[in-house]
Amino acid sequence: MKDSSPDRVFIFDTTLRDGEQSPGFHLDSNAKVRIARQLEKLGVDVIEAGFPISSPGDFEACRRIAREIRGATVTALARAVKEDIDAVWGAIKEAEKPQIHIVLSVSDVHINRKLGMSREAVLKRGAEMVAYARSLCENVQYSPEDAGRADPDYLVETVETMIAAGANVINIPDTTGYCLPYEFGELVRRVINEARGSEKALFSVHCHNDLGLAVANTLAALSAGARRVECTINGIGERAGNTSLEEVVMLLRVRQAKLGLECGVNTTEITRTSRLVSELTGTPVQPNKAVVGANAFAHASGIHQDGVLKDRLNYEIMKPEDVGLADSRIVLTARSGRHAFHHRLNRLGVTLTEGKDDEAWQRFLQLADTKKEVTDEDLRKIAAMSETNGHEGNGHPPVTDQLHDHNHVADTLRHLIFG
Ligand code: KIV
Ligand code: ZN
Repeated sequence: MKDSSPDRVFIFDTTLRDGEQSPGFHLDSNAKVRIARQLEKLGVDVIEAGFPISSPGDFEACRRIAREIRGATVTALARAVKEDIDAVWGAIKEAEKPQIHIVLSVSDVHINRKLGMSREAVLKRGAEMVAYARSLCENVQYSPEDAGRADPDYLVETVETMIAAGANVINIPDTTGYCLPYEFGELVRRVINEARGSEKALFSVHCHNDLGLAVANTLAALSAGARRVECTINGIGERAGNTSLEEVVMLLRVRQAKLGLECGVNTTEITRTSRLVSELTGTPVQPNKAVVGANAFAHASGIHQDGVLKDRLNYEIMKPEDVGLADSRIVLTARSGRHAFHHRLNRLGVTLTEGKDDEAWQRFLQLADTKKEVTDEDLRKIAAMSETNGHEGNGHPPVTDQLHDHNHVADTLRHLIFG
């Protein structure tokens, strides 16, 4: 799909800026450059490298990324003050496609309680700083912070003022993750329809996940006409995090027929990118996280395992290969069924002699009730014991003699298997 197509969604990755703002997630310049290289392979359209005024280390990281990355736009964040804008420009001006990103609040909560300014003064400051940034760089993005809680009329006035001052990307942030999807979609639609000059700008959104709605709000904004999405790998970011890149990208892909939208991300790099970010931030991904969690392609219950083994389509809406995983996983637990049990034995090359099947299955269930997952090693031992009437060929007594006492058998099995 061409970049100029109205159905093309541009992916703006802010893992290295908003993502790195997560408490305890500090990334040094080497780590940031490694992640930026991987984001380049992933095929994102924009990399937000950092907040250069915040520290010399972050300035340097942004500068290295700007020098090295080709293809993607490289941007960095500035508050609406000259010093910040100069720091951003100093750090990113050598990028192939540089962009200055300016943030200034738009909600009355922020204007009164954080900035202590009037609405008029905020508009004036924003417009002056956008014009200043445009004197340095062709691409300027303006983010009216806390737009999700702002007066929509004032938001529209702000957007048209910033477009007139030279902003060519307008990013609408739900900074506090407060909006409901239909509200946020309505807000974005209204701004695009009502702000004069909106046809000259690309509309982007930036959603936080405080109520678990970041991806839903992003989707609502796309339906309302936004065509750029700010997101992070593994959904990391301030507080509860940002829109998760992997979720929004796979949503566009899996539901392409319904949504009619596409992006340029190479989805087979998703798992590799997720693991790199997790490793370098020292923060594991929650196991049930959509798309990249360890359980996202794992099947544990007998009903699901039987269905997946008959046809993956029964329980998988996307292929593990599409996100760069070798395969889905069948996890053997006390909730597993015989289909999965036999499937795994077959894969291990273990064939039970006739009449031993029930015995092995009972041993499996007894062991499974005592632990979270039955491993391949456990299975081999269960099969060996069933073939030798409870002996492992090591002189231990047969466990089948004690089948009347469930707990005792479980303990014995555990002892035989784990010593
Ligand atoms: O949450 C927010 O509003 C931001 C802006 C800088 C876009 O991170
Ligand atoms: Zn944010």
